[in-house]
Amino acid sequence: MASTTIVGGCGHVGLPLGIALANAGADVTLYDTHPERVDEVAAGKMPFLEWGADSELARAIGSGRLRATTDPASISSAEVVIVTIGTPVDEFLDPKVRMFDRAIRSLHPHFRAGQLLVLRSTVFPGMTDRLINWFRQEGPALDVAFCPERIAQGYALKELAELPQIVSGSSPAALNRAKVLFQLLTPDLVELPPLEAELAKLFANTFRYINFAVSNQLYLIAQKFDADFGRIHAAVTHKYPRLAGFPKAGFAGGPCLLKDTMQLAGFNHNSFPIGQAAMMVNEGLPSALVERVKATRDLSRDCAAILGMAFKGNCDDHRDSLAYKLRKILTLECREVVCTDPYIADPSFVPLEVALAKADVIFVGACHNEYRTLRPRQPVIDVFDFLPKAALPALRKAG
Ligand SMILES: NC(=O)c1ccc[n+]([C@@H]2O[C@H](COP(=O)([O-])OP(=O)(O)OC[C@H]3O[C@@H](n4cnc5c(N)ncnc54)[C@H](O)[C@@H]3O)[C@@H](O)[C@H]2O)c1
Repeated sequence: MASTTIVGGCGHVGLPLGIALANAGADVTLYDTHPERVDEVAAGKMPFLEWGADSELARAIGSGRLRATTDPASISSAEVVIVTIGTPVDEFLDPKVRMFDRAIRSLHPHFRAGQLLVLRSTVFPGMTDRLINWFRQEGPALDVAFCPERIAQGYALKELAELPQIVSGSSPAALNRAKVLFQLLTPDLVELPPLEAELAKLFANTFRYINFAVSNQLYLIAQKFDADFGRIHAAVTHKYPRLAGFPKAGFAGGPCLLKDTMQLAGFNHNSFPIGQAAMMVNEGLPSALVERVKATRDLSRDCAAILGMAFKGNCDDHRDSLAYKLRKILTLECREVVCTDPYIADPSFVPLEVALAKADVIFVGACHNEYRTLRPRQPVIDVFDFLPKAALPALRKAG
């Protein structure tokens, strides 16, 4: 079985992939520049929450087929090198293309002829061809493939076993080698040329982001006219398959959806009106919720509690979570803001009981299962429609 090194191997994409490949029989080294994460993984401990991963990590390490290191020399000894490092946008929402370029180029001394380089990070379209050309000029002679990751964070191990894999390659040989690699996970492979595979990944995330924005916009329209979006949503999706994909309203945060929508906008020379409108709706939601509450009560006297600070429910990741944007807005408006989250260790957070005891008004920030049956005595702003609604005291219009 081909020996594999995963660059960025202790991250949210690299680590589950490494575990899955090792447990499918591959010999995997996780190379990462984050020493604490590497130490944790080497000791058999997951550095973040992935459901079902603790036992699978222990199995992979125990089999001797998975190891973690901060040594980039681990790249040279591998037949396959998979890259899963982050590909963020900058403060102007422009993709940091050069950062990815630089990261790959800094590893140049460790590549050797004959390796298969698989890009698994979500890259700016054209990046695969750009790297292919760069390696053609600078050597060594590599096969290059782009095979996007499509897991939902937190459910990676389940989904890596279930989802089809999109594969693309710089040549028939590269494509074939990528297919052999991913056949370890699934027989269900979908082939595309590299640019189309890059766009496929961005289209998928962008489509989801825009859909969330549609629901959030409709939520705000319903709210403006004192109609209940959750009730309308339940009614129109009831036994009506054409609207099966109509999401509920909620915060569309996290490290991927906005970022990838902006990558696509950047690729299309900043002309992506529907994506940019989606950003305005989704990023504006916390502020719109607070404005609505302000019409019903004087927040300056209130302690507001935010339940859940992760970017989504049952997750410990706070990257680009809109609950933090909500906290910032509420901090300017309220006497006090308290935050709680069972999955995120933050000394400024309080236990759930304290948040419930102190709060005059409550905002749901993330739909953790721990909140599912809560019946707070205070008014609750629950854009997700997650708490049992019948029991909640309603907000009343001022005057
Ligand atoms: N998080 C997801 O659910 C998800 C899903 C699909 C695709 N993606 C894409 O996958 C990529 C990675 O995302 P992530 O969430 O895993 O990020 P992450 O920050 O969790 O993981 C990246 C890892 O790379 C390491 N790293 C950074 N630079 C490095 C370098 N030069 N050499 C070695 N290691 C390095 C970091 O220490 C980190 O552990 C992004 O392009 C993202 O858009 C993410």
